[in-house]
Amino acid sequence: MMPVSMVGRAGELAELDRAWSTVVTGRRTAPTVAVISGDAGVGKSLLVAAAVDSFTPRPAVLLSGAARVHDPAPYDWLAAVLSGRDTSALDLPPDALAWLAQQPTAPRERYAPGALLRLAVRTVRLLVGGGPAVLVVEDLHALDPASLNLLGELATAAELPALLLVATRPAADAVAPELAARALARLCGVPGAVRQRLGPLRPAEVAEVLTQVYDGTRPPAALVRAVCARTGGNPYTLTELLAAHAGQEPAALLRRPVAPTSRAPAEPLAGGEVELTSRELEVLGCLVAGMSNKQVARELGISVRTVTVHVSNLLRKTGAASRTEAAIWAVRHRLPAPVDG
Ligand SMILES: Nc1ncnc2c1ncn2[C@@H]1O[C@H](COP(=O)(O)OP(=O)(O)OP(=O)(O)O)[C@@H](O)[C@H]1O
Ligand SMILES: [Mg+2]
Repeated sequence: MMPVSMVGRAGELAELDRAWSTVVTGRRTAPTVAVISGDAGVGKSLLVAAAVDSFTPRPAVLLSGAARVHDPAPYDWLAAVLSGRDTSALDLPPDALAWLAQQPTAPRERYAPGALLRLAVRTVRLLVGGGPAVLVVEDLHALDPASLNLLGELATAAELPALLLVATRPAADAVAPELAARALARLCGVPGAVRQRLGPLRPAEVAEVLTQVYDGTRPPAALVRAVCARTGGNPYTLTELLAAHAGQEPAALLRRPVAPTSRAPAEPLAGGEVELTSRELEVLGCLVAGMSNKQVARELGISVRTVTVHVSNLLRKTGAASRTEAAIWAVRHRLPAPVDG
């Protein structure tokens, strides 16, 4: 099956582009904030990736981090940003950097919380330099309190030429709902902040996806209606449905009910007898390293679409409700060695 390109979201892309231009033109010296929220699988990450891809001029600096595990260590976002990055030239105490990067050799209890927060802000400042920069925060809902605090500080920092681009599920779905709600309120309260709530795909957009998948043939209206009813227009569910019927004719989509999705696992994260292919293990390693589908595709030299299919299979096999949960599952089962991200 060919990779599907993003459908719809034109208004959102245009608004994010305008937000980026406020950073580029230097109209604001504090960061511009954009928060994209929506249910699981609604397309937040794809929108973020597409927006960053389309920004002109290209960001001079791109710092991207995602919440990586459910019980994250402090400053998980920054640790994800620092992972695999050469920080030797940064003018920062090496032990503080080791701590912020969650290196196993880092000394414990060396810095007071306030001092660490200041060091974390300074680390980001040094990385951003003269900018213009994009700071991508994936899955804010799963971030640790220290990361949330850091993001609040960054959003209001003076002289930081950056777009702070945040993707999050609703605060109610967060690991710590009250903290997430407070962090989101703080981010959205920044002057000029952009707030987007992504909804499911409309029938015309679902039709567009089907047209792409079935080689340009427009699907019959009844098929589109049935697929919309079955998936609720959720792009993730749609992707799963299409992957489950790859290589078959469109009418096959109507035949079997969707297998119960992994979003409500009967036995979550039980593990044990799960059999993963070597490719799935590689993809899982990338998820543990906090990579996006696009980064995984680049890392393994396969299409984003194929990555999506592997991720879907991983979620189903591990009973995880999200890529974050799959990563935790991997960590719990000491599987596999994360690739350098
Ligand atoms: N507008 C779209 N057009 C086509 N495919 C889409 C669209 N939005 C998302 N998808 C596909 O749906 C799947 C889920 O999208 P994505 O990972 O961006 O969702 P998300 O909102 O970030 O989910 P999560 O809450 O789990 O992080 C991906 O395979 C993505 O390629
Ligand atoms: Mg996402």
